Amino acid sequence: MPTALQENATSRFQPKEGELPVVFEDVSIAFDQNEVLKDISFQVKHGETRLLLGPAGGGKSVLLKLANGLLRPDSGRIFIFGHEITAMHENEIFELRSSVGMVFQEGALFDSMNIRDNVGFQLMEHHVPDDEVDSRVEEALKFVELDKTMEKFPSQLSGGMRRRVAIARAIIAKPSLLLYDSPTGGLDPITSTNIIALTMKQRDVYHTSSILITHRLQDAFLLATHYFDRDKNTMVALPSGEADRDTSFMVLHEGRLVFDGSTHDLVHSDDPFLKEYLS
Ligand SMILES: Nc1ncnc2c1ncn2[C@@H]1O[C@H](COP(=O)(O)OP(=O)(O)OP(=O)(O)O)[C@@H](O)[C@H]1O
Ligand SMILES: [Mg+2]
Repeated sequence: MPTALQENATSRFQPKEGELPVVFEDVSIAFDQNEVLKDISFQVKHGETRLLLGPAGGGKSVLLKLANGLLRPDSGRIFIFGHEITAMHENEIFELRSSVGMVFQEGALFDSMNIRDNVGFQLMEHHVPDDEVDSRVEEALKFVELDKTMEKFPSQLSGGMRRRVAIARAIIAKPSLLLYDSPTGGLDPITSTNIIALTMKQRDVYHTSSILITHRLQDAFLLATHYFDRDKNTMVALPSGEADRDTSFMVLHEGRLVFDGSTHDLVHSDDPFLKEYLS
């Protein structure tokens, strides 16, 4: 279904009917002699959350930046909703980003802009009228329970609040695909759990497809073993031993995808690296 921004005359990117949100085919990228990703192939299906794990420096952020065209691979092909972004011009990729929300590892808010302008930035770039920007920013901030902060500046908010603003900014255009780079990095356990609840709400209430990087295994398993109850507005545990069917794992190690599969298969893997990593 086209999102509000896609219906706007300024946006020309349209997801192709029935095509997968993300397809990577034999993607490789190196920086000088450093081969960061080697022959990476995977898919994200509609409504699916792919949890991306792996040691620091393994290429997780690079993979996410390839998925929204911020980086281009040396070889291989990447399709987003059926469009080959590896064959796109920069201006087409700009249009694509209204369908792909990104939460950057560092949050990456503009310090000199207030929260309203930070969250509404993409709409303003697409020349959406001011009053519509206001109402959409308010709606996005309500989702992250920060609707009283419009006029504040990032420096006046806590780390956890800034991360919630980054999520509001990523969902402002109601994207069909969300890319979260370590949304709980550097946060305390309670704030992290609140952030994970927001990503779960996107998955279970809005059925947004996503790739989520995390360093915290407990966050990954929270997403895999709970669902978001819309009426209670909270997370609820699945029966013991059950895992969410729309959530699965990918593990990157030294530039290769060493695991791509279900929660059950990850937990029961005999692979020595995975056993060590998960212990
Ligand atoms: N723009 C770039 N130019 C050169 N090297 C880069 C660039 N971006 C990333 N790299 C290198 O690619 C490798 C993987 O980096 P990446 O940021 O993807 O790791 P990561 O898995 O996200 O790590 P972390 O868990 O610490 O966030 C690192 O060796 C990094 O130095
Ligand atoms: Mg990273």
